[in-house]
Amino acid sequence: MIYTSAPSNIALIKYWGKRDTKLNLPLSSSFSGTLEQMRSWVAIASQDKGDEQWMLYGDPQKAMRVLEAARKFTRNTQQLAISICNDFPSQAGLASSASSMAALAFGLDIALSRGNTPLAEIAKWARLGSGSAVRSLYPGFVLWQAGQTEDGSDCIAQSQCSAAHFPLDVLVCVIDDRNKPIGSSAAMEHCRANSPLYERFHARNADDLCHAMRAVQDRDFSALTEISEANCLAMHAVMQSAKPPINYFMAGTHQTIAAVRELRKQGISCFFSIDAGPNVKIFCPPEHTSQIIGHIHSISGVMRVIHDRISNQAARRETHWPRHLPCPLKSDHTP
Ligand code: DP6
Repeated sequence: MIYTSAPSNIALIKYWGKRDTKLNLPLSSSFSGTLEQMRSWVAIASQDKGDEQWMLYGDPQKAMRVLEAARKFTRNTQQLAISICNDFPSQAGLASSASSMAALAFGLDIALSRGNTPLAEIAKWARLGSGSAVRSLYPGFVLWQAGQTEDGSDCIAQSQCSAAHFPLDVLVCVIDDRNKPIGSSAAMEHCRANSPLYERFHARNADDLCHAMRAVQDRDFSALTEISEANCLAMHAVMQSAKPPINYFMAGTHQTIAAVRELRKQGISCFFSIDAGPNVKIFCPPEHTSQIIGHIHSISGVMRVIHDRISNQAARRETHWPRHLPCPLKSDHTP
């Protein structure tokens, strides 16, 4: 049995639009931090008889695209039993498809080609499942370049710097852990066709990217605060200005944004980021974490807070399945 895991990642400069929906190529580059605790787990075993077996949370079509790409590249058609499990809420804008597709692609390389595939190729498989999954394969602060070529050969990701360079905690405030009303792929396409702000959002990407990467390089928390919140709100403005609008925010989202702004007024360094869901991620220097958690717990709209951090623990092979998750595959599958 092969076990792998990959963490979620949170974009500081967001990916919100595609230049090719089939190959899942982004229109603009994005920049993210790889998390540590919020991981997806994958177990893969070979199967001699019967159809492929899947046990998974999330979208089976995404996982199928990753498997097809891995098979095509490795020319290995071995039937597999595959289980994918998240240790945090799925499909609620907590980047579960990023972590699960990254863990799956990483595991398929081991299962189908004994871990011999270059990481850039594994990233292509992961991208076909979910664009943001590419970033979960790399440690620390990660740049995913949009590229320009039709075949996506220059659409690559790389780690820009280690998490140790600029230690940041991430407090994931869970406002609602149910499935989001509209998935990212459909929402992006809706915005492309129906939002007057879509092009403007992409036109500012190069500038935003440059500012955010410089802020990380310089360990300049207040510059990172300004650019990350602005870029995140610009993405949500694209959604909210579409006809009909897409609004992922809930009451708890607004309450948490207000709390972050209030904490900042009190001299506590923190900023928020929100993806395609109502949940709010708060970034802060580790020395401010306990004060922020104390404050966030009093917000009525926040169900719970997951304490994570930017980390170098990207996708990796595991020796065993975590005890706290339901057991995936029976051990009688041949390894
Ligand atoms: C809002 O990677 O989920 O989280 O490629 O269509 O599967 P698909 O989209 P996905 O998009 C995530 C978008 C975002 C912003 C980001 O993470 O950059």
